[in-house]
Amino acid sequence: METINEGKARFKSYVDDKISKKLPVFYNPVMKLNRDVSVLLLNSVEKDDMQLALPLAATGIRGIRFLLELKKSKIKTISFNDKSDEAVKLIKSNLRLNKIKPKDKIKIFNLDANEFLLNSKGFDYIDIDPFGSPNFLLDSAVKRIARNGILAVTATDTAALCGSSKNACLRKYWSEALKNEFCHEIGLRILIKKVQQIASQHDKALIPIFSYSREHYFRIFFGCEKGKKKADEIMKKHGYVVYCNKCLFRETVNTIFNNEKCPFCNSKLDSAGKLWLGQLWDKKIVVSMNKEAKKIKDKELIKLMQIITDESKINSVGFYDIAKVVKHNKLKYVPKKELLIKEIKKAGFKAAETHIRPNSIRSDITLKELVKIIRKIN
Ligand SMILES: C[S@@+](CC[C@H](N)C(=O)[O-])C[C@H]1O[C@@H](n2cnc3c(N)ncnc32)[C@H](O)[C@@H]1O
Repeated sequence: METINEGKARFKSYVDDKISKKLPVFYNPVMKLNRDVSVLLLNSVEKDDMQLALPLAATGIRGIRFLLELKKSKIKTISFNDKSDEAVKLIKSNLRLNKIKPKDKIKIFNLDANEFLLNSKGFDYIDIDPFGSPNFLLDSAVKRIARNGILAVTATDTAALCGSSKNACLRKYWSEALKNEFCHEIGLRILIKKVQQIASQHDKALIPIFSYSREHYFRIFFGCEKGKKKADEIMKKHGYVVYCNKCLFRETVNTIFNNEKCPFCNSKLDSAGKLWLGQLWDKKIVVSMNKEAKKIKDKELIKLMQIITDESKINSVGFYDIAKVVKHNKLKYVPKKELLIKEIKKAGFKAAETHIRPNSIRSDITLKELVKIIRKIN
């Protein structure tokens, strides 16, 4: 057991060279950014007096950071839960270590996460941060998330969502994934669609307010609205991406047909879906988060927020990997990302780098126009 500092918290945790769920209580330092973003988001939304729930709390680090780092007006109650006895003991001692006294607003449970959620009266914020897939907890979480509440979902089974195992994606997420340069965005959008499908069964509409893909995981914060009509509107934004592996043409469509051909090179098109074709971010929330991030001296967080602030202004499903466009269209050399963004903007389109993949550009430009611009630079 070691004492670790993260954010404003100091806590004890088991450590091992290998981060694995075999640790007596799980803590992954790589997920610091995941916790940083959660603090940032809750501090940036216009919501006070929230009832927060951490059904999979482990060491308690996330909740302890909420207690120490969220603005005073934010928390009405905070509930920690973990099915592991060892984890619950650690949560209690870590709260003491941070001099957080048991008060009415702090509740600790030692239950299966589904039981914990279903026994409750509901929450304004539920944070699902599991090993692997969040599937096992989605139904209970959407049942217990309040109107205008926020549901946060992490998934670490990116192999299934990104097309390494097609059957696993079909089985677990009811969609076809695709292994290409923007497979992480496809995976993120498939996960969003799955969570929304579960919510729609309960006449709830889950709208992504902040989403990102990083290292081994996806993370999405959904705003919850209630009503059949709203849930129907969400379902209408589920569709497919068709993609040409030869010339990199891509398009979003509502329906797919067998043996569809690429309009440019006549090759057979691949497809992924159904997936969420709507926005990945609420632009206003992103702007507030970016402002808030600048107050915190954390380079990684500031960088992520700046990139997402720029890319959130562009409506596109997928992006262009510059080197791949050059290679597949037999162009001469790979232009610098910054120069290409400048030239795309000069031509009247929107363009920004994407947080999902290095040397790639999110833009509303068509592939044909992009190739023209790169040819001119060449
Ligand atoms: C990935 S860890 C959570 C990490 C934590 N949220 C953080 O930010 O450090 C998953 C935790 O969920 C707990 N867990 C797994 N399945 C559970 C279940 N069905 N009910 C309650 N807790 C569960 C495990 O004991 C483990 O502590």
